[in-house]
Amino acid sequence: MCSPNDPQSPIVDYLQGLLERLRGLSHGRLPDYIPELTRANPDWFGICIVTRDGFVYEVGDSGQLFTIQSVSKPLTYGLALECHGEEAVLKRIGVEPSGDAFNAISLKPQSGAPLNPLINAGAIAAVGMVPGQTAEEKAARILRTFSRYAGRELDVDESVYDSESRTGHRNRAIGWMLRNFAVLENDPTAALEAYFRQCAIRVTCRDLALAAATLANGGVNPVTRERAIAEKYVSNVLSVMATCGMYDGSGEWTYRTGLPAKSGVGGGIMAVQPGRLGIAVFSPPLDAQGNSVRGIAACRELAHGLCLHLFDASPRTMPALRLATTRKQVASRQRRTREASAYLRGVGKRIRLKHLHGALMFSTIEPVIRQLMEQSENTDFFILNLRLVQGIDPAAAHLLASTRKKLQLRGRILAFSEAREWWQTLTDAGVDREAFYADDDFALEHGENLLLQQRFPEHEWQAPVALSACSLFSGLSDPQLGQLEPLLAQRRYHRGQTIIAAGQAADELFVLVSGIAMVSIATQEGLARLDAFTSGMTFGEVAFLDRSPRSANVTAVDRVECRILTRQAFGQLERESPDIKIRLLENLALGLSSMVREANRELSVLK
Ligand code: DON
Repeated sequence: MCSPNDPQSPIVDYLQGLLERLRGLSHGRLPDYIPELTRANPDWFGICIVTRDGFVYEVGDSGQLFTIQSVSKPLTYGLALECHGEEAVLKRIGVEPSGDAFNAISLKPQSGAPLNPLINAGAIAAVGMVPGQTAEEKAARILRTFSRYAGRELDVDESVYDSESRTGHRNRAIGWMLRNFAVLENDPTAALEAYFRQCAIRVTCRDLALAAATLANGGVNPVTRERAIAEKYVSNVLSVMATCGMYDGSGEWTYRTGLPAKSGVGGGIMAVQPGRLGIAVFSPPLDAQGNSVRGIAACRELAHGLCLHLFDASPRTMPALRLATTRKQVASRQRRTREASAYLRGVGKRIRLKHLHGALMFSTIEPVIRQLMEQSENTDFFILNLRLVQGIDPAAAHLLASTRKKLQLRGRILAFSEAREWWQTLTDAGVDREAFYADDDFALEHGENLLLQQRFPEHEWQAPVALSACSLFSGLSDPQLGQLEPLLAQRRYHRGQTIIAAGQAADELFVLVSGIAMVSIATQEGLARLDAFTSGMTFGEVAFLDRSPRSANVTAVDRVECRILTRQAFGQLERESPDIKIRLLENLALGLSSMVREANRELSVLK
């Protein structure tokens, strides 16, 4: 999703107001240690926010090109981590805030390792770890990576590169110090020139906000859906941004904004609210630490005004459990014989259905798991419905996988319904495929079947029935049944065959003598099962009674045998045996009223 700015949006209004308020901040200077940077217009000012789902809000000069400078450093650090892994990188580059300026020569006394990857020493060491023999090879690799963060092909501002390369004596000194301590293994020239080129990559405020949103989104650009960094290294990058991103101003920055961030002498700042959004501000005049004056002020106000501070205690996480019920209240659509229904009603609490919502993480899934374990004493089958779940972090996924295994050891089953995209997350965490059901209906049916199998000899509860055992004929005497029998047509259907098609005229009433018949309607997501009948039950009565066309399809789930009462035969009964017709109508009314009762009970639970 990537939307052009909606001028009606209250969020755009808010950003515009912020921009106007802070425009007046006129202190700060353009950096002159790289002569080319003094050509920037000090009035340029842009703010951009990109949400985790790729929605862009931007105001002011958010499309103005400038050089990325030190905002590049965390991105290259991420690339070094991806290429060499955490341990190898930690051996060469520390993660301690230096409390020094960006260009300080802060190296650990014994090893000579830079204190962190965001001061120049650490950033040059990180470029040294980017694959490539020459400056060009390294710089090309870096440019490709940054382009994925921005979601477009970036390029290098050659005049800023020349300007910095001509004047970068201090960085060269740092490079040779790193060579001296063997943090860089070869002549540092390639790493230094690639570093200068990296700093001179041209971006807009919007590009930086997209890069920040990519980090907020676990490494995937939320607009292009392209991965810029492996998810497992995102937290490493964000951690150093939180502790070292603003150099000697890092402590106060985190204190006031509570957001991992990175600034650059080009005037850009990017800040990340992990899991939620990315922010970028661009305004060239800098304070004494080399951070954009308006950029810092805007980020502070945004963090305060939009309550983004990560350590703000006020936002409570929503409990994951939205609904907890049992088979006593909500049954599958598979109808059961009277005997099986009665049994299932008695043991209904042995199947529990829980609907979860929101983000599943340790703090929200822990109470659910605690409840599952407590209830496993007297529950055989648990269903967790995930339809409204918005996220499952790796901790929650692994905990759910191990809960399923633990319950299995106790002879219990934990199933998931409507898992959608979380199917992948959970199977990756070790949940086996048999745990998943398309919806609650099929999961409940499976749980019911397990309970019935424990109680009844195999399939007895689905056996074909005599006419006298069919609900429509209940209460008829043997002579009455004998009178009725010849009026009933007999029809057989093979598995999958349509018995009733939606839209047809309804002149027949069906009594299922054997097999299972399923009632379904076509929805946007495919076929939805409304009901499933087994032997002894009646179907097709609603449209038969009110003479409306059939509203749903009925298909044979396995081989089905039906007895059919036509409207003509019904009329004949009225003339010849009204007592039988009255009995049949009473039975139909009883069946319909019990359906209404059941539907009301379920509705009140699900509401
Ligand atoms: O190393 C340098 O001097 C620059 N090219 C980058 C410095 C920078 O952006 C410092 N950050 N605020």
